[in-house]
Amino acid sequence: MVKINININNKAYSEEVGDNTLLVELLRDKLGLTGTHVGCDTSQCGACVIHVDGDSVKSCTVLAAQVHGKDLTTVEGLASEGQLHPIQKSFQNNHALQCGFCTPGLVMSAVDLLKKNSSPSEDEIREWFEGHICRCTGYKNIIKAVQEAITQ
Ligand code: FES
Ligand code: FES
Repeated sequence: MVKINININNKAYSEEVGDNTLLVELLRDKLGLTGTHVGCDTSQCGACVIHVDGDSVKSCTVLAAQVHGKDLTTVEGLASEGQLHPIQKSFQNNHALQCGFCTPGLVMSAVDLLKKNSSPSEDEIREWFEGHICRCTGYKNIIKAVQEAITQ
């Protein structure tokens, strides 16, 4: 076991974690932050994407012990004062989800994309989402949602 201190969504946590505990397991199973999803066991689907020190990361590919001292944001931390984040709103406006299973990861990834590139082309958006799989909506409206967020 190892002790880690982390900030998640601006709240400090001090946790004992196993040497082999995945970050996504800590978030979901121990801390109850179940907005971060697990959609595969092959690091392919992107449902588990969160931000670590501001960068999007697949939380199923990181050990909890590796994030000691870091700032994390999960989808639960995006809304502010009861208001959805603009990207969450544009996903809603553009019907960019059906079952919603992939959505938290896509939203977190899109926030990071627009932070790094405020005006991505459609090709750049599609390339950025290469590490995500949506099994039911199709990608058209997801791309539209990001494009709408660019203009806001
Ligand atoms: S659960 Fe992390 S990539 Fe699928
Ligand atoms: S909305 Fe169902 S998997 Fe993407």
